[in-house]
Amino acid sequence: MAKRPTLTTDSGMPVADNQNSITAGPRGPVLMQDFHLLEKLAHQNRERIPERTVHAKGSAAYGTLTITHDISKYTKAKVLQKGKKTEAFLRFSTVAGERGAADAERDVRGFALRFYTEEGNWDLVGNNTPVFFVRDALKFPDFIHTQKRHPKTNMRSPTAMWDFWSLSPESLHQVTILMSDRGLPQSYRNIDGFGSHTYSFINARGERHWVKFHFKTQQGIKNWTNAEAAQKVAYDRETHQRDLFEAIEKGNFPKWKFSVQIMPESDVDKHWYNPFDLTKVWPHKDYPLIEVGTLELNRNPKNYFAEVEQAALAPSNIVPGIGHSPDKMLQARIFSYADAHRYRVGVNAHQLPVNRPRVEANDYHADGTMRLEGKPYPDAFYEPNSFNGPLEDQSYRDPPLKIMGDAARYNHRDGNDDYRQPGELFRLMRPDQKEQLFNNYKAAMEGVPVEIVTRQIVHCYRADPEYGLGVAKALGIDFKPQTIAAE
Ligand code: HEM
Repeated sequence: MAKRPTLTTDSGMPVADNQNSITAGPRGPVLMQDFHLLEKLAHQNRERIPERTVHAKGSAAYGTLTITHDISKYTKAKVLQKGKKTEAFLRFSTVAGERGAADAERDVRGFALRFYTEEGNWDLVGNNTPVFFVRDALKFPDFIHTQKRHPKTNMRSPTAMWDFWSLSPESLHQVTILMSDRGLPQSYRNIDGFGSHTYSFINARGERHWVKFHFKTQQGIKNWTNAEAAQKVAYDRETHQRDLFEAIEKGNFPKWKFSVQIMPESDVDKHWYNPFDLTKVWPHKDYPLIEVGTLELNRNPKNYFAEVEQAALAPSNIVPGIGHSPDKMLQARIFSYADAHRYRVGVNAHQLPVNRPRVEANDYHADGTMRLEGKPYPDAFYEPNSFNGPLEDQSYRDPPLKIMGDAARYNHRDGNDDYRQPGELFRLMRPDQKEQLFNNYKAAMEGVPVEIVTRQIVHCYRADPEYGLGVAKALGIDFKPQTIAAE
């Protein structure tokens, strides 16, 4: 048998006894000089960092993005050129539950991708749904409060959730997905991933196209009913973590087909919907999926805390050839994630192995907690300088983005049709899926005051009368459509 390594303290000193503290006599009190004991206790007190305020429970793996198709006419991003293979990291998550929550809950799933490209990290922090509950970031903290625990009861509150949703008609599209069979996936391998927002592609000629990113599971979509999930949770709270980890350990590598939808820059005003509205999809008949490549997950992290808990992914991490868009939710996310990382992990979170780009990061930031290393240019610690420090490169400049309008707080609900796409989605469902949707509403609305339930049914009815009447029937509500017709 190989010789086992000697146990040491944090400073590397060999430890002679890891079983008995130093005491004054065999029964005696402990001596302050037992720094090995003090180090162990002190370290244990600092083992936790703040969990993510949302998406706290998650699982992740590394893999490879392979580009199989030529989309160079849309983007110059090196990571997206035909034949390119790039190391990837994908963290899946549930949204509402805390770090110890059960996996098999009805919830949206996070699909947070990182690509370690030769031009820096590109993070595409998306979900398993193409839309979201709100369209203005000003409402994000309010929405998330309804998903978390009630401040007095310390329990989740269906009343708060449905109160907020029923007062926010723009949420209906996402709520319809959440209450459908897709709201409770069997595993992370059985979900699709979406960038959700509109982003931009910039090609070598400096032309911009709008783009949406899609990842289609090759394992098939598989969901559980509420009853099936309850059975699972009773025996195993880690169903998704177990499934992903074990599949990869066995060499059964999950795959997703990677596609994009592309919209010419000048098309933005051509539609009844705003292409930058995160509560809307772009119809595939107008903007069909263009195949780009495949994503495979093939390596488990070695240490969950170091690599998954400390992973710091941010929509602000983009690379040349990929840009943001005027989507106001995305604009807010550009701020929010890096800010969360400074608080949750620290100002130098980007130096940790899971976050470090695979290329040299040449910034002029200095110091801060837990800085791991200095810079390769010791005399060039400010800019401009005469000591061969890194320089900006104008060739990476993006084409200008036309922005117009007076600064004001515009009512995003004015003239916005929040019912058309949820209605279309409802009409795509098979009869058994519609039945499941109605029953999931019933289960999710237990104990919610009738006026809130009725307010929500009005939204469902406006999307499609059969939708509203189906939910009302499942809940045993005597819903009178003529009352809303009169409104
Ligand atoms: C996590 C904010 C909307 C997907 C987070 C975190 C914050 C945040 C602060 C924790 C980050 C961390 O501590 O590492 C926001 C804000 C939003 C918003 C302010 C709206 C204005 C969205 C949307 C999506 C999304 C629209 C999907 C399309 C995720 C995912 C994670 C996350 C997947 C987990 C990231 C990971 O696995 O590390 N969000 N979010 N969020 N958010 Fe959002």
